[in-house]
Amino acid sequence: MKIPTPQKASEYLSEAEAMNPGPWVQHSIFVAKAAEAIATHHPMLDPVTAYILGYLHDIGRQIGKTANRHIIDGYEFLHAKGFSDSARICLTHSFPIKDVNVISGRWDCSLEERKFVKDYLAGIEYTEYDRLIQLSDALALPSGFCLIEKRLMDVALRYGINDYTLLKWKATLSLQQEFEEAIEQSIYSILPGVVSNTFGFDVNMASTRG
Ligand SMILES: [Fe+2]
Repeated sequence: MKIPTPQKASEYLSEAEAMNPGPWVQHSIFVAKAAEAIATHHPMLDPVTAYILGYLHDIGRQIGKTANRHIIDGYEFLHAKGFSDSARICLTHSFPIKDVNVISGRWDCSLEERKFVKDYLAGIEYTEYDRLIQLSDALALPSGFCLIEKRLMDVALRYGINDYTLLKWKATLSLQQEFEEAIEQSIYSILPGVVSNTFGFDVNMASTRG
């Protein structure tokens, strides 16, 4: 696959953080870790590849405080470097269903760019890696792993909802089911800290306090 080495990916994210620091960087790191953890238990996926794809999925945010054009900026950045498989993830991660209308928040792209994304999605079949990063993106807050429903609500509260929001939520929950069948266990059983990060306290501490 055409993806950067772990070292190169690390350089890209460090440079990106210097250009536009923000919680998106920690979110990206947890998406990478979630993808790696799931891939480790998956019969068809490579954990290092999964990590790099997750790590760079939001790299387009280096440009600044943009909305949905970060998917195009990320795609163009990695495509220009020759990493077409990593570039692809920048576009596909936002679309658990292949419809440009499913996007959360405003479209700050030109009509030509919107058409480019629409045609790109229409011209590909999703791979397990596309689906893995779509799922992992829904499992990671900047503070760590969380219940999918919490992350979906987090995005809805920040960017709003539209007529496609329920479809997107259902598709994301279907991804959870699909990957849990593949790894033969709950995704939450392999993501440390989900409970404390989702609910804001450590259940083990709470139970010992009585
Ligand atoms: Fe993301």
